[in-house]
Amino acid sequence: MSEPKVPPSALLADGIAAVPHHVAIIMDGNGRWAAARGLPRVEGHRRGVEALRRTIRAAGEIGIKVITIFSFSSENWSRPAAEVGELMGLLRRFIRNDLAELHKSGVRVRIIGERAGLEADIGRLLIEAEELTKDNTGLTLVVAFNYGARQEIARAARRAAEAVAQGTLNAQDITVDTVAGFLDTADLPDPDLIIRTSGEQRLSNFLLWQSAYSELVFVPANWPDFDRAILEGAIREYQQRERRFGGLSGTAAAKTGS
Ligand code: FPP
Repeated sequence: MSEPKVPPSALLADGIAAVPHHVAIIMDGNGRWAAARGLPRVEGHRRGVEALRRTIRAAGEIGIKVITIFSFSSENWSRPAAEVGELMGLLRRFIRNDLAELHKSGVRVRIIGERAGLEADIGRLLIEAEELTKDNTGLTLVVAFNYGARQEIARAARRAAEAVAQGTLNAQDITVDTVAGFLDTADLPDPDLIIRTSGEQRLSNFLLWQSAYSELVFVPANWPDFDRAILEGAIREYQQRERRFGGLSGTAAAKTGS
């Protein structure tokens, strides 16, 4: 998946609007998808893995460079044990079944989130996925697993405090870049576009630091129904936004002569 395998769609190939470099996705609505069909929730999660496979393929084809998926949040432990067990099982199976193919496609896998406290075999699979694919130069797939943004920021603060205590960092020298460098995402670009499925409109403790200037797009489809057309629709919406990063729009800047 290092180079797009098929030409991007007409919309994305118009040469005017850029494809977002980094797209992050909150894959929501698996349970509702299942309930609407009288199926157990786990069936929604299973179909969610298929949607994930489709999305990774489409992202590579469209020319997205980094895709981050919210696959298990720090708060998801509060779900019934059976559902937590199913979600852990799906991650295990995803890595065991799909890692070789991802590697062959040039995908580099990165995991963000808290590793401590995970079952030992899952910890090993996460390391294996990162190690095997670390030199790949195609799409970067960032899996947010046992991830919570507040927890990530707290870990970063703890690391900075430890560095200050050890004398390797001066408290006065702590800047935005210093804090960013202590986050799990230290070497990753911020997301340009964050998509949440299922119509919910909130970030739910996902990439709170990194989303400072991300464009947010909320789509009504539940995650198991997500596909390339919906992804392209979200990118189209993103392309209509004007990103000012706290500055002025092009027109306003021209008017003020700045
Ligand atoms: C939200 O739907 C989804 C999750 C909590 C988990 C997302 C997991 C997957 C798509 C599959 C596993 C991922 C990997 C990498 C193997 P929900 O259960 O909150 O849906 P609801 O809001 O309709 O109840």
